[in-house]
Amino acid sequence: MRIHLKRIIDNSYDIRFVNNISEAGADIRSTYPDARVFIITDVNVGKHYAGPFARCVSGRTAPAYVLRIPAGEASKNRTMKESLEDQLISLGATRNSVIVALGGGMIGDLAGFVAATLHRGVSFIQIPTSLLAQVDSSIGGKVAVDHPQGKNLIGAFFQPKKVYIDVSTLKTLPDGEFRNGMAEVIKYGAILDGKLFTFLEKNRAAILRKNPNIMHAIIERCCELKRAVVEKDEREVDYRRILNFGHTIGHAVEQVSNYRIAHGKAVAIGMAAEAKVSTALGILSSNDAARLEDALKAFGLATSFPAKMRTTAIFDMTLRDKKTQQGKVHYTLLEKIGKARVGVPMSRVRAQELFER
Ligand code: GLY
Repeated sequence: MRIHLKRIIDNSYDIRFVNNISEAGADIRSTYPDARVFIITDVNVGKHYAGPFARCVSGRTAPAYVLRIPAGEASKNRTMKESLEDQLISLGATRNSVIVALGGGMIGDLAGFVAATLHRGVSFIQIPTSLLAQVDSSIGGKVAVDHPQGKNLIGAFFQPKKVYIDVSTLKTLPDGEFRNGMAEVIKYGAILDGKLFTFLEKNRAAILRKNPNIMHAIIERCCELKRAVVEKDEREVDYRRILNFGHTIGHAVEQVSNYRIAHGKAVAIGMAAEAKVSTALGILSSNDAARLEDALKAFGLATSFPAKMRTTAIFDMTLRDKKTQQGKVHYTLLEKIGKARVGVPMSRVRAQELFER
């Protein structure tokens, strides 16, 4: 006998720009008037936003709870997921409950994965408060935890019901975190939008001042670019790998550093390295590689491997990349500023040899 499971699924959702977090809170409560709402945040973000936000979400009969966890990538693991699940179940979370991720990429990935498996899936909302999460990780439904063997090795595709972006949260974002986000912004320009890249080059000072209008325009453009990628290839069968430019080597650097080097910073190093590989392969001009490196440096990002890190250790680590098949690491490389090439298979030895040329 055959079980027929062909389905047409509508996972569409809105990204809504709000003037403040309270606006998001009020909207959530009116969309889910009777649901228990569980806000998962980290201690840093929670300090600024959790209290006021929870007050807006709390209904007379349907309370809101705040679950705080330590900040940093080290919290994105199975133990923390289990601890959140225990708390959610003991606080009475049901299938009709709503989980809100209030924070940066780590919180979104972890809370999203909790939401994906609790009661086989509960409504999930993203309120990204870091630049990196606003332009990238809150959109597209990738949720996961890390494993000692690699980053994001255990996870799911689980789309949020809505994403609320409040650009003013960048005011409380530490400078290092802002730079991490800029690495992903530069990535969008490099792989998909030469005009955005030039805009970043020309508006460096205003961006570093976090000028709200300019940041709003940049974030909105990045969301449009990510939307177009995700709409074409939600499950990363092929095209979505374009977003992995800089990430194969970047993830390796992040892991070799034991997550002491933050994601965005590692991706900047990875982009510079993968641009070098692209140039050595003859598909990227050295002029465009230099433009990329200059842009990364202009936003305070490093472009070479940390002095104490062995190049061989980094390339060995790339073999653990999820996209590695039969010993070949699949790279996204750059053809020019604004255009990338997806899925270039290379042995780890060949990639290192091109990098060192
Ligand atoms: N951050 C890469 C992706 O969402 O595919």
